[in-house]
Amino acid sequence: MRITDTSDLWWKTAVIYCLDVETFYDSDGDGIGDLGGLAERVDYLAELGVTCLWLMPFYPTPDRDDGYDVTDLYGVDPRLGTHGELVEVIRTANDRGMRVIADVVINHTSDQHPWFKAARRSRDNRYRDWYVWRSDTPPDTSDQVVFPDQEESIWEKDDRTGEWYLHHFYRYQPDLNVANQAVRDEIARTMGFWLELGLDGFRVDAVPFFIDDVETAANDPQRPEVAADPHQYLRDLRAFVNRRRGTAILLGEVNLPHRDQKKYFGGDAADELHMMFDFLTMQNLYLSLARGDVRPLAKALRQRPAIHQSCQWATFVRNHDELTLDKLTDAQRQEVFAAFGPEPEMQIYGRGLKRRLPGMVDGDPRRLRLVYALLFALPGTPTIFYGEELGMGEDLAQEGRMAVRTPMQWTSGRNGGFSTAPPRKLVSPVVQGGYGPAHVNAAQQRRDPDSHWSFMRALIAAYRSCPELGWGTFEVLPQPDNAVLAHRSAWEDAAVIAVHNLGSEATQVELTVADREVLLVDLLQAGEQRTDPKGRVTLELDGYGYRWLRVHPGSDARLP
Ligand code: GLC
Repeated sequence: MRITDTSDLWWKTAVIYCLDVETFYDSDGDGIGDLGGLAERVDYLAELGVTCLWLMPFYPTPDRDDGYDVTDLYGVDPRLGTHGELVEVIRTANDRGMRVIADVVINHTSDQHPWFKAARRSRDNRYRDWYVWRSDTPPDTSDQVVFPDQEESIWEKDDRTGEWYLHHFYRYQPDLNVANQAVRDEIARTMGFWLELGLDGFRVDAVPFFIDDVETAANDPQRPEVAADPHQYLRDLRAFVNRRRGTAILLGEVNLPHRDQKKYFGGDAADELHMMFDFLTMQNLYLSLARGDVRPLAKALRQRPAIHQSCQWATFVRNHDELTLDKLTDAQRQEVFAAFGPEPEMQIYGRGLKRRLPGMVDGDPRRLRLVYALLFALPGTPTIFYGEELGMGEDLAQEGRMAVRTPMQWTSGRNGGFSTAPPRKLVSPVVQGGYGPAHVNAAQQRRDPDSHWSFMRALIAAYRSCPELGWGTFEVLPQPDNAVLAHRSAWEDAAVIAVHNLGSEATQVELTVADREVLLVDLLQAGEQRTDPKGRVTLELDGYGYRWLRVHPGSDARLP
């Protein structure tokens, strides 16, 4: 393992930034963010230290599920711009040292997609078996719907042909029949197309749903052509993507227990998804924050299965969906609700929160910084959602998950500088009140060395100087204070010690960090501390305090 490997396996030390083009920056004043606007703001992202942009769906869409209902997998939503402008975004990002990945939705299309329109015309249409149909009355599947406030069944009766089609998500998102080789070929063709335009990979939407569908098909005696192992599809997809582009990754949305996720990495062969979001660690992080006790988080991290060195966990504290707490027990979920979202209007689907982090911690900058310092110190690749670098808030008046998908706040001016359109024409209203643009905006924070943005920028720079956080072996260091997570990430002969105090009280942490005397140099502030000859040290931490420390002597090659 050499430092040069970090460029080959770039995703292991990346900083991923998720944004929706339509809410980022509107360059033509029609109220909708666009690719031209994103191109204008690429330098802002480079300045922050982002290394990989994740674009939410930008395809043509009736927009009933914010673009996750696609009508043309090869297209660009004309409201956002053109293929040419997308290529310009990619080139500009690449020039500033950033890669670009995008959502790909394999599980389903919009019901307005020409394939589905054809499929529902007759039972013998050539696109009929591009989707999943049944002719007998479906059983009760209300426990399988993803959006329980909107749907009661995963089957919808189609009157024209008298059969039911499968939809795990909304009824206007029919599931593609991914067991069908013609569908697989077309999906691969679209992904190949975007790779050719310069994407460095995909965030693959809703992976277990289509793998489960393939499994069902494989178990169907009527369909001997479907390979018995549904995971073969992910192997084929990865092999295809990397044949077309060696640098490309598949970052999967797989909200399953850790032991199942190992399978989606391809186990020890590591031939399926390159990356997966770590939903379990995220949920236990919130439980730990609610309790001021790091044990749930430490347990989740310890229970992560070992993964191949080419694979990686994507860590996060917020994404574009509900902040799901579905993997906690009912009692644990209630603890998190009580701490961070006690009002029913803050909760969603009975399993998650509609809020962004700042409101959850009452806007306390110490707690906000603590959480991000911890996120970036955890083993994995940190992934942030636009606006997190500013401490943007949510708009609970917005329907469901749209609460956190409000326009980016660039300035204190009209529409937060997002658009010059009249406010009623905006794709989504700008957040009002204490987290509105008057108080939270990029222009002010970039100039203020004490702002959250400046903190995040420095944090990202520190993270980028510590490849051991993404590559290294992770170890929780024993010490008696349950409010404190002390851990060590070591890689070759370099190591970083990180301590994070989830409690409001100042504390002292006694640690053994080495078997000899070493010097610990602070990475997030000025300071250093020497251990005793046995490698023991007592670190002072403020309430909600944190420190990252590099161990010296270590590798002479690491930046002193
Ligand atoms: C994923 C996306 C979500 C979308 C759903 C259906 O869960 O994250 O935003 O609604 O898939 O495509």
